[in-house]
Amino acid sequence: MQLRKTLVTTLTLTFLFAGAADAGPLKRFAHERIDAATPKIIGGTDAQPGDWPWIVALIQSGISDNFQGQFCGGTLIAPDWVVTAAHCTDGKSPGDIDVLAGVTDLKNDIGERVAVKRIVQHPEFNSRNLVNDISLLQLSSPVSPTPAATDVGPETHEGELATIIGWGDTDPTFRNDFPFILQQAEVPVISNTLCQSIYGSSITNGSLCAGYADGGKDTCQGDSGGPLVLPTATGWELAGITSFGNGCAQPGFYGVYTRVATYETYIDDSLNFDYVACADANGDSVINADDITAHKADGRSELITWINNCYKTGSACGDLNEDGQVTRADLFLKWIEIRNAHNDWLAVCWTPEAS
Ligand code: ARG
Repeated sequence: MQLRKTLVTTLTLTFLFAGAADAGPLKRFAHERIDAATPKIIGGTDAQPGDWPWIVALIQSGISDNFQGQFCGGTLIAPDWVVTAAHCTDGKSPGDIDVLAGVTDLKNDIGERVAVKRIVQHPEFNSRNLVNDISLLQLSSPVSPTPAATDVGPETHEGELATIIGWGDTDPTFRNDFPFILQQAEVPVISNTLCQSIYGSSITNGSLCAGYADGGKDTCQGDSGGPLVLPTATGWELAGITSFGNGCAQPGFYGVYTRVATYETYIDDSLNFDYVACADANGDSVINADDITAHKADGRSELITWINNCYKTGSACGDLNEDGQVTRADLFLKWIEIRNAHNDWLAVCWTPEAS
């Protein structure tokens, strides 16, 4: 165990659970602490190499040491796509994040470390109450481990024993003991009704809660974005994404996970979306800030064409408000229309790639 000298996304819900959550980064301090007696994940055990082939670590791209740079987890759901928590990617650019696949021991395993090409954060992620805490990362190149199956069924999974996995803090008192070796623990899924009675409106159909009433086993800071899996006839399925909790492993509280099955459409649509066809305004096959410039220029020339053909000529196509005349009011409407179209394009199409 060693204190990780880096930024790990942290989140502590305050006691009123007014929906306010602090997902900001926590600066760690450069002390080291060895404590063999400290429990793992919280209350977990060491994973063996190959146990969870599809788990990945999110690493700050500027930090070459995998252990120091790890700040969240994720799960491979296709050779070039990772699902994680939106609070892990919020405010970040693709170039800020690397994905490390195929490791159990962050200090000693080599694995495959690849850059992120694109972040597709859930469009309705709410950073205050962490509703819709899900994000997808497209990798710059595919990695070799087998991706995980995702849960798509309607089952609540209440009472089922789930496995939580990650390289997050193993010390429930927030003394920041980060393991080199991947940790795992088993926790039962509880009902959303019970979870809502504790965390209020932060719990939606898109939430899945798990843990023990007495605490003791839980995910913690640094586990976010990583998997909660359930056994199936043939292996494992990803049912949850580590999101938040009040402290870690506290009695009376549970871990909150994003319920993956709720987001099947968002996941499928995002993996199949043609980002280039939608957003490549300058036709160079790369989506970046140059496309915003090009798209704005397209809007300007559309406006000029309309002015020449419809406005200056006083033609029917110039009477946008249908009041029988072509006036500056119509010009204003045309300008609004083009501006709105640009903003829609930004929201729907523009998912910038790492430069
Ligand atoms: N928000 C944390 C992270 O960013 C995960 C916290 C999980 N907490 C819990 N009690 N289950 O790593």
